[in-house]
Amino acid sequence: MSVRQSDTARIIAVGSGKGGTGKTTVAAALAFALANDHARDVALIDFDPQGSLTRFTGQRAVADPLQAEPVEILGMTLYRGGATLAGVSPSALTQHLRRASRPGRTIVVDMRPMLDDPGHAVVLSTPGVFLLVVPELNPESIPEARKLAAMAEARGIPFRVVGNKEENRRPVKRALEFLSTGFGTEMSDVVIKRGAAVAEAHERQLPVTAYAPDSPPGRAIRALADELVAEGVA
Ligand SMILES: Nc1ncnc2c1ncn2[C@@H]1O[C@H](COP(=O)(O)OP(=O)(O)OP(=O)(O)O)[C@@H](O)[C@H]1O
Ligand SMILES: [Mg+2]
Repeated sequence: MSVRQSDTARIIAVGSGKGGTGKTTVAAALAFALANDHARDVALIDFDPQGSLTRFTGQRAVADPLQAEPVEILGMTLYRGGATLAGVSPSALTQHLRRASRPGRTIVVDMRPMLDDPGHAVVLSTPGVFLLVVPELNPESIPEARKLAAMAEARGIPFRVVGNKEENRRPVKRALEFLSTGFGTEMSDVVIKRGAAVAEAHERQLPVTAYAPDSPPGRAIRALADELVAEGVA
Protein backbone atom coordinates (compact mmCIF):
# COMPACT_ATOMS: atom_id res chain seq x y z
CA MET A 1 0.00 0.00 0.00
CA SER A 2 1.50 3.34 -0.99
CA VAL A 3 1.90 6.10 1.56
CA ARG A 4 0.05 9.29 0.78
CA GLN A 5 1.37 12.74 1.49
CA SER A 6 -1.44 14.78 0.07
CA ASP A 7 -2.69 17.67 2.19
CA THR A 8 -5.79 18.13 0.06
CA ALA A 9 -8.39 15.68 -1.20
CA ARG A 10 -7.92 13.89 -4.48
CA ILE A 11 -10.96 13.93 -6.71
CA ILE A 12 -11.88 11.27 -9.24
CA ALA A 13 -14.83 12.31 -11.41
CA VAL A 14 -16.55 9.42 -13.20
CA GLY A 15 -18.20 10.46 -16.46
CA SER A 16 -18.89 9.36 -20.02
CA GLY A 17 -21.06 11.98 -21.69
CA LYS A 18 -23.66 9.34 -22.45
CA GLY A 19 -26.52 7.74 -20.53
CA GLY A 20 -26.34 4.23 -19.15
CA THR A 21 -22.68 3.42 -19.78
CA GLY A 22 -22.05 2.33 -16.18
CA LYS A 23 -20.78 5.53 -14.52
CA THR A 24 -22.72 5.03 -11.30
CA THR A 25 -21.96 1.31 -11.15
CA VAL A 26 -18.24 2.02 -11.52
CA ALA A 27 -18.22 5.03 -9.17
CA ALA A 28 -19.79 3.06 -6.31
CA ALA A 29 -17.71 -0.07 -6.89
CA LEU A 30 -14.43 1.81 -7.32
CA ALA A 31 -15.10 3.85 -4.18
CA PHE A 32 -15.80 0.68 -2.18
CA ALA A 33 -12.63 -0.99 -3.49
CA LEU A 34 -10.56 2.05 -2.51
CA ALA A 35 -12.04 2.04 0.99
CA ASN A 36 -12.02 -1.70 1.51
CA ASP A 37 -8.92 -2.96 -0.31
CA HIS A 38 -6.78 0.15 0.16
CA ALA A 39 -8.01 1.60 3.45
CA ARG A 40 -8.63 4.97 1.83
CA ASP A 41 -10.80 7.61 3.46
CA VAL A 42 -13.38 7.81 0.67
CA ALA A 43 -16.22 10.23 0.06
CA LEU A 44 -18.75 9.55 -2.67
CA ILE A 45 -20.64 12.50 -4.12
CA ASP A 46 -23.80 12.09 -6.15
CA PHE A 47 -23.62 14.93 -8.70
CA ASP A 48 -26.51 13.60 -10.77
CA PRO A 49 -30.04 14.95 -10.14
CA GLN A 50 -31.35 11.47 -11.02
CA GLY A 51 -29.91 10.34 -7.67
CA SER A 52 -28.93 6.89 -8.94
CA LEU A 53 -25.82 6.62 -6.79
CA THR A 54 -27.89 7.50 -3.75
CA ARG A 55 -30.45 4.80 -4.58
CA PHE A 56 -27.83 2.24 -5.63
CA THR A 57 -26.40 2.48 -2.14
CA GLY A 58 -29.77 2.00 -0.47
CA GLN A 59 -30.33 5.66 0.47
CA ARG A 60 -33.09 8.12 -0.33
CA ALA A 61 -32.60 11.27 -2.34
CA VAL A 62 -32.59 14.42 -0.23
CA ALA A 63 -34.46 17.70 -0.69
CA ASP A 64 -31.32 19.81 -0.58
CA PRO A 65 -28.18 17.86 -1.48
CA LEU A 66 -26.01 20.94 -1.00
CA GLN A 67 -26.98 21.22 2.67
CA ALA A 68 -27.82 17.64 3.70
CA GLU A 69 -25.39 16.00 6.08
CA PRO A 70 -23.48 13.09 4.57
CA VAL A 71 -24.18 9.53 5.71
CA GLU A 72 -21.72 6.76 6.48
CA ILE A 73 -22.25 3.65 4.36
CA LEU A 74 -20.02 0.60 3.92
CA GLY A 75 -17.04 2.44 5.39
CA MET A 76 -17.48 5.44 3.09
CA THR A 77 -19.00 8.90 3.41
CA LEU A 78 -21.87 9.50 0.98
CA TYR A 79 -23.09 12.95 -0.02
CA ARG A 80 -26.55 12.12 -1.26
CA GLY A 81 -28.12 13.54 -4.39
CA GLY A 82 -31.56 14.76 -5.31
CA ALA A 83 -33.57 16.43 -8.02
CA THR A 84 -32.69 19.97 -6.92
CA LEU A 85 -29.12 19.44 -8.11
CA ALA A 86 -30.50 20.28 -11.54
CA GLY A 87 -30.00 23.96 -12.11
CA VAL A 88 -27.70 24.82 -9.19
CA SER A 89 -24.94 27.29 -9.93
CA PRO A 90 -21.36 26.26 -10.61
CA SER A 91 -20.22 28.16 -7.52
CA ALA A 92 -22.67 26.21 -5.32
CA LEU A 93 -21.35 22.93 -6.75
CA THR A 94 -17.77 24.07 -6.17
CA GLN A 95 -18.68 24.77 -2.57
CA HIS A 96 -20.32 21.34 -2.32
CA LEU A 97 -17.09 19.67 -3.49
CA ARG A 98 -15.15 21.77 -1.02
CA ARG A 99 -17.24 20.69 1.94
CA ALA A 100 -16.40 17.03 1.23
CA SER A 101 -12.70 17.83 1.01
CA ARG A 102 -10.35 16.60 3.77
CA PRO A 103 -6.60 16.17 3.70
CA GLY A 104 -5.77 12.66 2.51
CA ARG A 105 -9.30 11.89 1.39
CA THR A 106 -10.25 10.49 -2.01
CA ILE A 107 -13.50 11.89 -3.40
CA VAL A 108 -15.33 9.94 -6.08
CA VAL A 109 -17.90 12.01 -7.99
CA ASP A 110 -20.69 10.37 -9.99
CA MET A 111 -21.35 12.69 -12.94
CA ARG A 112 -24.52 13.13 -14.92
CA PRO A 113 -24.55 12.01 -18.54
CA MET A 114 -24.81 15.46 -20.15
CA LEU A 115 -21.55 17.24 -20.85
CA ASP A 116 -22.99 20.75 -20.89
CA ASP A 117 -24.07 20.79 -17.24
CA PRO A 118 -22.51 22.85 -14.44
CA GLY A 119 -21.12 19.64 -12.89
CA HIS A 120 -18.71 19.12 -15.77
CA ALA A 121 -17.81 22.81 -15.84
CA VAL A 122 -16.95 22.61 -12.14
CA VAL A 123 -14.98 19.37 -12.02
CA LEU A 124 -13.04 20.28 -15.15
CA SER A 125 -11.91 23.52 -13.56
CA THR A 126 -11.07 22.13 -10.11
CA PRO A 127 -7.35 21.70 -9.41
CA GLY A 128 -6.34 18.14 -8.60
CA VAL A 129 -9.23 16.48 -10.40
CA PHE A 130 -8.68 13.23 -12.26
CA LEU A 131 -11.30 12.24 -14.80
CA LEU A 132 -12.29 8.64 -15.29
CA VAL A 133 -14.11 8.25 -18.61
CA VAL A 134 -16.29 5.12 -18.67
CA PRO A 135 -17.68 4.41 -22.14
CA GLU A 136 -19.75 1.36 -22.76
CA LEU A 137 -17.94 -0.75 -25.36
CA ASN A 138 -20.17 0.00 -28.31
CA PRO A 139 -19.79 2.32 -31.28
CA GLU A 140 -22.41 4.79 -29.95
CA SER A 141 -20.47 5.55 -26.77
CA ILE A 142 -17.19 6.41 -28.46
CA PRO A 143 -17.91 9.93 -29.81
CA GLU A 144 -19.11 11.19 -26.42
CA ALA A 145 -16.15 9.62 -24.63
CA ARG A 146 -13.83 11.37 -27.07
CA LYS A 147 -15.63 14.66 -26.54
CA LEU A 148 -15.27 14.38 -22.77
CA ALA A 149 -11.61 13.39 -23.07
CA ALA A 150 -11.03 16.38 -25.36
CA MET A 151 -12.65 18.68 -22.78
CA ALA A 152 -10.25 17.31 -20.15
CA GLU A 153 -7.26 17.63 -22.45
CA ALA A 154 -8.11 21.22 -23.32
CA ARG A 155 -8.06 22.08 -19.61
CA GLY A 156 -4.97 20.05 -18.73
CA ILE A 157 -6.98 17.63 -16.58
CA PRO A 158 -5.46 14.15 -16.41
CA PHE A 159 -7.82 11.40 -17.46
CA ARG A 160 -8.07 7.67 -18.06
CA VAL A 161 -10.51 5.73 -20.23
CA VAL A 162 -11.86 2.41 -19.01
CA GLY A 163 -14.20 0.40 -21.22
CA ASN A 164 -17.26 -1.17 -19.59
CA LYS A 165 -19.52 -4.12 -20.45
CA GLU A 166 -16.89 -6.08 -22.32
CA GLU A 167 -18.10 -9.30 -23.89
CA ASN A 168 -17.18 -11.61 -26.68
CA ARG A 169 -18.99 -9.93 -29.55
CA ARG A 170 -17.43 -8.43 -32.62
CA PRO A 171 -18.72 -4.83 -32.23
CA VAL A 172 -17.57 -4.82 -28.62
CA LYS A 173 -14.07 -6.05 -29.56
CA ARG A 174 -13.94 -3.48 -32.33
CA ALA A 175 -14.95 -0.64 -30.01
CA LEU A 176 -12.22 -1.69 -27.57
CA GLU A 177 -9.61 -1.80 -30.33
CA PHE A 178 -10.70 1.59 -31.58
CA LEU A 179 -10.48 3.14 -28.12
CA SER A 180 -7.11 1.50 -27.38
CA THR A 181 -5.64 2.76 -30.63
CA GLY A 182 -7.09 6.24 -30.20
CA PHE A 183 -6.22 6.78 -26.56
CA GLY A 184 -2.95 4.82 -26.18
CA THR A 185 -1.52 5.47 -22.71
CA GLU A 186 -4.71 7.18 -21.54
CA MET A 187 -6.47 3.82 -21.89
CA SER A 188 -6.59 1.81 -18.69
CA ASP A 189 -5.03 -1.66 -18.63
CA VAL A 190 -8.33 -2.72 -17.11
CA VAL A 191 -11.41 -3.57 -19.14
CA ILE A 192 -14.62 -4.17 -17.20
CA LYS A 193 -16.54 -7.28 -18.18
CA ARG A 194 -20.27 -7.36 -18.56
CA GLY A 195 -21.54 -9.63 -15.81
CA ALA A 196 -24.75 -10.70 -14.09
CA ALA A 197 -23.20 -9.84 -10.73
CA VAL A 198 -23.78 -6.13 -11.47
CA ALA A 199 -27.58 -6.49 -11.61
CA GLU A 200 -27.57 -8.81 -8.59
CA ALA A 201 -25.52 -6.28 -6.65
CA HIS A 202 -27.91 -3.47 -7.62
CA GLU A 203 -30.85 -5.54 -6.37
CA ARG A 204 -29.12 -5.80 -3.02
CA GLN A 205 -28.18 -2.12 -3.10
CA LEU A 206 -24.50 -2.95 -2.86
CA PRO A 207 -21.49 -2.01 -4.98
CA VAL A 208 -20.49 -5.00 -7.11
CA THR A 209 -17.06 -5.00 -5.43
CA ALA A 210 -18.83 -5.52 -2.09
CA TYR A 211 -21.42 -8.05 -3.24
CA ALA A 212 -19.25 -10.11 -5.59
CA PRO A 213 -15.62 -8.99 -5.32
CA ASP A 214 -14.40 -12.01 -7.29
CA SER A 215 -16.95 -11.84 -10.10
CA PRO A 216 -15.50 -10.71 -13.45
CA PRO A 217 -16.77 -7.10 -13.11
CA GLY A 218 -15.87 -7.05 -9.40
CA ARG A 219 -12.32 -8.16 -10.11
CA ALA A 220 -11.89 -5.67 -12.91
CA ILE A 221 -13.05 -2.71 -10.84
CA ARG A 222 -10.77 -3.79 -7.97
CA ALA A 223 -7.91 -3.95 -10.47
CA LEU A 224 -8.84 -0.43 -11.56
CA ALA A 225 -8.60 0.70 -7.92
CA ASP A 226 -5.16 -0.98 -7.71
CA GLU A 227 -4.07 0.83 -10.88
CA LEU A 228 -5.21 4.25 -9.62
CA VAL A 229 -3.58 3.71 -6.23
CA ALA A 230 -0.31 2.52 -7.81
CA GLU A 231 -0.23 5.71 -9.89
CA GLY A 232 -1.00 7.95 -6.93
CA VAL A 233 -4.32 9.07 -8.40
CA ALA A 234 -6.49 7.71 -5.58
N1 LIG B 1 -20.23 -4.30 -16.18
C1 LIG B 1 -21.56 -4.38 -16.26
N2 LIG B 1 -22.16 -5.57 -16.50
C2 LIG B 1 -23.50 -5.68 -16.60
N3 LIG B 1 -24.35 -4.64 -16.47
C3 LIG B 1 -23.82 -3.43 -16.24
C4 LIG B 1 -22.40 -3.22 -16.11
N4 LIG B 1 -22.19 -1.91 -15.86
C5 LIG B 1 -23.40 -1.33 -15.82
N5 LIG B 1 -24.39 -2.22 -16.04
C6 LIG B 1 -25.84 -1.97 -16.13
O1 LIG B 1 -26.04 -0.91 -17.04
C7 LIG B 1 -27.11 -0.08 -16.59
C8 LIG B 1 -26.61 1.36 -16.47
O2 LIG B 1 -25.65 1.41 -15.43
P1 LIG B 1 -25.43 2.74 -14.60
O3 LIG B 1 -26.69 3.23 -14.00
O4 LIG B 1 -24.27 2.50 -13.70
O5 LIG B 1 -25.00 3.71 -15.80
P2 LIG B 1 -24.84 5.28 -15.80
O6 LIG B 1 -23.85 5.60 -16.85
O7 LIG B 1 -24.56 5.76 -14.42
O8 LIG B 1 -26.30 5.75 -16.23
P3 LIG B 1 -26.88 7.28 -16.22
O9 LIG B 1 -26.36 7.90 -17.47
O10 LIG B 1 -28.36 7.11 -16.20
O11 LIG B 1 -26.34 7.95 -15.00
C9 LIG B 1 -27.59 -0.66 -15.28
O12 LIG B 1 -28.71 -1.47 -15.55
C10 LIG B 1 -26.42 -1.50 -14.80
O13 LIG B 1 -26.84 -2.59 -14.02
MG1 LIG C 1 -25.51 7.28 -13.34
